[in-house]
Amino acid sequence: AKGAAMVTAVAYRLAAQRKQIDAVLAPFLLSLETLRDVMNKMRTELEYGLKRETQDRATVKMLPTYVCGTPDGTEKGKYLALDLGGTNFRVLLVKIRSGRRRSVRMYNKIFAIPLEIMQGTGEELFDHIVQCIADFLEYMGIKGARLPLGFTFSFPCRQASIDKGTLVGWTKGFKATDCEGEDVVDMLREAIRRRNFDLDIVAVVNDTVGTMMTCGYEDPNCEIGLIAGTGSNVCYMEDMKNIEIVEGNEGKMCINTEWGGFGDNGCIDNIRTKYDKEVDEGSLNAGKQRYEKMTSGMYLGEIVRQILIDLTKQGLLFRGQISESLRKRGIFETKFLSQIESDRLALLQVRRILQQLGLDSTCEDSIIVKEVCGAVSRRAAQLCGAGLAAIVEKKRENRGVEHLQITVGVDGTLYKLHPHFSRVLQETVRELAPRCDVTFMLSEDGSGKGAALITAVAKRLHNVGQK
Ligand code: GLC
Repeated sequence: AKGAAMVTAVAYRLAAQRKQIDAVLAPFLLSLETLRDVMNKMRTELEYGLKRETQDRATVKMLPTYVCGTPDGTEKGKYLALDLGGTNFRVLLVKIRSGRRRSVRMYNKIFAIPLEIMQGTGEELFDHIVQCIADFLEYMGIKGARLPLGFTFSFPCRQASIDKGTLVGWTKGFKATDCEGEDVVDMLREAIRRRNFDLDIVAVVNDTVGTMMTCGYEDPNCEIGLIAGTGSNVCYMEDMKNIEIVEGNEGKMCINTEWGGFGDNGCIDNIRTKYDKEVDEGSLNAGKQRYEKMTSGMYLGEIVRQILIDLTKQGLLFRGQISESLRKRGIFETKFLSQIESDRLALLQVRRILQQLGLDSTCEDSIIVKEVCGAVSRRAAQLCGAGLAAIVEKKRENRGVEHLQITVGVDGTLYKLHPHFSRVLQETVRELAPRCDVTFMLSEDGSGKGAALITAVAKRLHNVGQK
């Protein structure tokens, strides 16, 4: 009888625990109705960003990029490209061949950007970038070559032409001083001048745009670029007549939506949890990029960590002990989340990963951790899908068709590395935008290659740069 009583007690405790865990994770389960609401709100914000009257206050900035067409295969030549703002900083040499044997070849080098430079002064940051370019040219044996350069700069920039871009505000992990409100091309040119060499900066490009262009090179139906990585953002080709802040009504222009700022006016606060708020408050740009903070690699691990802390406080995890490591911001990178959620991984391996992060777990703990990761990344993929559904629906209406066939070029570590993110994202789009037939095309090295392609097109069309 005593044994039976003990079994009952254990069963009772487990059931109570389950209830508590479910309660913590419940706000992460979004109904189809909620997702549809997110899609509709995104749509409203997209329109605000395009209209002259509402543009100033819009949280989705809808920045014109002055990229007006996808490549046509006649691009050729040698270009330099810089890629700043993702997981790595890279310098690339891109060789494009046109005609029947058209091809793109690339050589690149990855450079680290130390935290003190990301968050130091603007001058230091740009001096560092130019130092890396100099190293690269030396390494490639092309010192002194004056190649046209495309600068992939993955932050919001207000552009007045393809080779001008004023930084609206830093996002993600950057916070260098004296850059906001400045033209990043000018800052780069000045840093180049300080080192007494010469480069011909032709284009400044968002990573989403580079990704769209790279995929557009293979598939002319690609008119959307999506990044689901450290940050989250989308660009797409919009009809000029809908872009009120740019002169002209003919043709199309690519719009960098900067949708990461969606929700900064509180319009999705109904789905933000206390964990989202904690992550926001602990970030470099509190109150900003609220949607990005629910959907991108830089923050998902942080949300997980906040939940784990809460569960531990409630005595549901790690024997109620909050370890030193669990207190550390940023311990759960995308790569760990991806590993933990991999279906092929045995629980023992999950425990090993947690161990690597300094978290001693029981088998039960590791099950719970995996569940938490799953809830957070699933919600991220669904929210991202709801946003994308708003974009494809808008494209469909623009074209005035019943059914739209469209390709989305995609890049980003979360999309590429995570075992479920891409599938859930695609399912959500299919569900919310059933009249759109969306093909997802992975871009290989999108931002670097794309910057070179845009530079090639710009060179051909306007002969810009050359100053
Ligand atoms: C952030 C940046 C945006 C970029 C995205 C993906 O949202 O503001 O410009 O495209 O990250 O890197």
